[in-house]
Amino acid sequence: MKKFMSIALAAMMMASMSGCNGNSNSSGSSSAQQGDDKVHVGVVQIMEHTSLDTIRESFLDEMEVLGYGEDKVEYDIQNAQGEQSNLSTICKKFVGDDVDLIVAIATPTAQTAAASTTDIPIVFSAVTDPVEAKLIQNPQQPEGNVTGTSDAIPVDEVMKLCQKLTPEVKTIGFLYTTSEINAQITAEKAMAEAEKMGYQTKLMTISEVSELQQAAQSLAEDVDAIYVPIDNTIAQAMQTLAQVGIDNQIPIYTGADSMVQDGGFATVGIEYTGLGKETAKIAAEVLEGTPVSELPVVTMEEFGTFINPETAKAIGVEIPEEIASQASMLS
Ligand code: TRP
Repeated sequence: MKKFMSIALAAMMMASMSGCNGNSNSSGSSSAQQGDDKVHVGVVQIMEHTSLDTIRESFLDEMEVLGYGEDKVEYDIQNAQGEQSNLSTICKKFVGDDVDLIVAIATPTAQTAAASTTDIPIVFSAVTDPVEAKLIQNPQQPEGNVTGTSDAIPVDEVMKLCQKLTPEVKTIGFLYTTSEINAQITAEKAMAEAEKMGYQTKLMTISEVSELQQAAQSLAEDVDAIYVPIDNTIAQAMQTLAQVGIDNQIPIYTGADSMVQDGGFATVGIEYTGLGKETAKIAAEVLEGTPVSELPVVTMEEFGTFINPETAKAIGVEIPEEIASQASMLS
């Protein structure tokens, strides 16, 4: 409950700032699908973690607002529990069922869905870099059956926040999961930015979640702070990483607000309730019959600062008032 309220509060605080580019127009309630047969929509996420769950819920809420509630649409909501093989099975089933639309949350999900069909429209959600993920060539004018929303994040802002909040940091450790292109790209950008700013850097990668604790501990011994990018595998085990930060008394900067809420120290990032809503607007357009090629990828452009005050206290970092007053405090 407490968790939910923090997110809701953060969402409210950011509501006035929320914005996006690309196509965000929606035509309100459905003019198509009246009466008879329901529309079929498959929704799939790679695993459960705080952020992906927020996206799914806000997507479904907004679909209802747009006239695509459960009275009109049959949603087949699936979660692959972090297993690529489950993801393939789920996407094959959607194709076999000939759903009208697939909504794919996060990069690995979208990649699997895109590999499963070139006919059924796919709306992805929270894909950090859809071009690098090879989902699309031109996000402004999708050439295939795939479009959606992106959560590209401002890595330079996070590094600046590190400078402000923890000026004594000299060496930053970077940690990500090799199978996640979204994580790799973000980590590489953040690392380049850190080096430009004069930080020493150290890189550590994992291939699965079971390696996290040990990898993080050995990295923590060599660095003054750790940065983890927008990495699903690490996000699902964020408490483990947060504990390593506390045990070693170092700040963990993250790629997403949810990772701060789950015990990380701080980030600058987007607000995912808004991203879920934007995803719904695109999905509703597809169900209205708008061709995917006319629905550009929507990238969230407003960012907020998120800090976990309990973690700050646990690692002995004081948050200056001028930063605290601008930030969302999550715990
Ligand atoms: N952007 C991630 C991807 O491309 C998905 C994601 C959304 C995520 N919110 C997150 C990952 C929070 C980690 C933490 O797959």
